[in-house]
Amino acid sequence: MGRLENKVAIITGGARGIGKATAQLFAQEGATVIIWDMLESGEQTAHELRQQGYKAEFGQVSVTDAPALEVAARAVQDAYGRIDILINNAGITRDRSLLKMSHTEWEQVVDVNLNGVFYCTKAVVPYMVEKQYGRIICTSSVVGITGNFGQTNYSATKAAIIGMVKTWARELGKYNITANAVAPGFIRTEMTDQIPEEVLKQTVATVPAKRMGSPEDIAHAYLYLASDEAFYVNGHTLSVNGGVA
Ligand SMILES: NC(=O)c1ccc[n+]([C@@H]2O[C@H](COP(=O)([O-])OP(=O)(O)OC[C@H]3O[C@@H](n4cnc5c(N)ncnc54)[C@H](O)[C@@H]3O)[C@@H](O)[C@H]2O)c1
Repeated sequence: MGRLENKVAIITGGARGIGKATAQLFAQEGATVIIWDMLESGEQTAHELRQQGYKAEFGQVSVTDAPALEVAARAVQDAYGRIDILINNAGITRDRSLLKMSHTEWEQVVDVNLNGVFYCTKAVVPYMVEKQYGRIICTSSVVGITGNFGQTNYSATKAAIIGMVKTWARELGKYNITANAVAPGFIRTEMTDQIPEEVLKQTVATVPAKRMGSPEDIAHAYLYLASDEAFYVNGHTLSVNGGVA
């Protein structure tokens, strides 16, 4: 018996990286997995899961498109009668030092990483309230706690997540809904593949674990917070960073 048997889980940014590893793990644990992503390759990810005999589907939607998210959430509710878990995992970077960062770079990151989390949660949470059950997990980052050179936009959104889940814990706890965050450290995905190898090496040297994390390291943290066992964990930000901060 899987830990997410009979649960319906929406994973944003599930086409690749951490979200894809999460889709795989959650499906193995018995969940029906709904991947929301802008990338068409989300269909391939869902297809691979179905080929393994798991229940998975893909909805091509941007987390910045609030009306489309309302429609997508309604479609999941109509198809399965419930939405138990929302993993707000989609995120982007547009790194540049403050002196050079454009307003567009600021706005793009705020729109996906912050507005996107608000829009997705707004679209889904009424169905959780109706069922008096929900697990909302949002992806913060170590740099939301420490700050980072070149990441004014990104670190601001990731710090904001920590405040949002604390607030939602207070507002939604009475409906048996929890809201928590995971703050990953340096995880090997296409996002970090953009970082020059030399910078990555220096970064890894600062990690007590002396290696980058894997997408699965984060997927397992999401799994814990999404499970029934985590009922009494609410408003928390779980660092998964090899001990770096
Ligand atoms: N990789 C790391 O080191 C690291 C560290 C800390 C936090 N994080 C966070 O973890 C999450 C996953 O990151 P990742 O490393 O897997 O990155 P990734 O770039 O490999 O995957 C991100 C996914 O989000 C999707 N996405 C982006 N914008 C979207 C939008 N507007 N609508 C829908 N989907 C969208 C992408 O298409 C992609 O599939 C992000 O929130 C990221 O900020 C990553």
